[in-house]
Amino acid sequence: MQPWKLRDGGSSYRSDTRQWIKVILITLVVTIPRITHCTVVGSCYTSIFSFGDSLADTGNLYFAFQEVQCFFPPYGETYFHHPTGRCSNGRLIVDFIAEYFGLPLLKPYMRIKNGELEDANVEKGVNFAVAGATALGIEFFDEKGIKNVPTNYSLRIQLDWFNEMLPSICTSSSSCKSVLGSSLFVVGEIGGNDYNYPFILKKSVEEITTYVPQVVTAITSAIKELIELGAVTLVVPGNLPIGCSTGYLTDYMSADEEDYDEAGCLRWLNKFAEYHNEQLQIALNQLRDLHPHTNIIYADYYNAALRFYRAPHQYGFRGSALKCCCGSGGPYNFNVTALCSEAVKPCDDPSQFVGWDGIHLTEAAYRWIAQGLLEGPYTTPHITIPCLSPKEKYVMKSSYFVA
Ligand SMILES: *[C@@H]1O[C@H](CO)[C@@H](O)[C@H](O)[C@H]1NC(C)=O
Ligand SMILES: *[C@@H]1O[C@H](CO)[C@@H](O)[C@H](O)[C@H]1NC(C)=O
Repeated sequence: MQPWKLRDGGSSYRSDTRQWIKVILITLVVTIPRITHCTVVGSCYTSIFSFGDSLADTGNLYFAFQEVQCFFPPYGETYFHHPTGRCSNGRLIVDFIAEYFGLPLLKPYMRIKNGELEDANVEKGVNFAVAGATALGIEFFDEKGIKNVPTNYSLRIQLDWFNEMLPSICTSSSSCKSVLGSSLFVVGEIGGNDYNYPFILKKSVEEITTYVPQVVTAITSAIKELIELGAVTLVVPGNLPIGCSTGYLTDYMSADEEDYDEAGCLRWLNKFAEYHNEQLQIALNQLRDLHPHTNIIYADYYNAALRFYRAPHQYGFRGSALKCCCGSGGPYNFNVTALCSEAVKPCDDPSQFVGWDGIHLTEAAYRWIAQGLLEGPYTTPHITIPCLSPKEKYVMKSSYFVA
């Protein structure tokens, strides 16, 4: 059930010293050539800077004091035991990435700005992602008559915040190049909401498809700007298989069986997400050509998630992967007029569900996606560890499996 066990579950090594030595040698061979490229030898990424929407928001909207459902129980019940502003029952993908690299869970920019943190430790990373955020600015949606965009925290605004905060992270152009060069930038997932809002308004998929190039350009412009400031390693996630999302399945329910794939997901919506992801990857390839010294990593959220919709039992999810944990009835346990809230009793064991509230996923699902990125095949190029992560150093010190 805990994907990290794939890495941690080394009990068989304990009794087999030869195997042990092999592991150490392989680790050395694999990591030594890379250490020379690392700005700070011995510690992998020195910090993480994250941009995005509710898939990555660790409290920005919460500390901007906007009232949203995610800020009340039962949100946060599983891991934090209280709401934190994360739109899930526990940790998000970016939390698992931070843990994996031995870094603290990302502090929301808003909380630092409000002066609420004594020791903000901004040099270890900051999260600029905001629930509800779009890649494009609010003007784009206004022009199109899309009036249901609730937040004004586009990717542009998140970058402005990053620029504002930069003087407290590094003080000169050369120190910024060094600090940002050893940081991991997670740019997204972002863009999903640019499509969600018009889909909620039942705009045609043909029209929404015409937004894709602009959304992708907003993402690549942000990446270019970060590279100019000194970013070297950037993880850029694509969209999730939204055709498997409880909310969409409810909203776009169809009597035509042909609309659904074997997993029960809406084909045309998944096709749309695939189209966005293809366009994003084409644009990332162009960026790689323009900036050969950088490491631009595509994070395939789509396929990392699709595997557990296709075979939920293999990942510890019981029953239908399409019903959410915290909802109030209906075929997918999602009712848009009675969303997950204090008035709703969530399922007893969220780790058996993929969907948390019909829009966002459970900590268990996010953990599997993170595992698929960090240890599985769902990053391109693979997110290798440029230096020794604290976890690996621990292994090298030989105490890791003994514990
Ligand atoms: C959104 O934020 C920008 C930058 O802070 C501001 O210029 C703009 O007026 C805001 N738009 C709305 C609709 O609130
Ligand atoms: C959704 O919730 C509303 C308000 O609580 C209720 O009237 C309605 O019957 C519910 N719909 C379903 C399908 O459960």
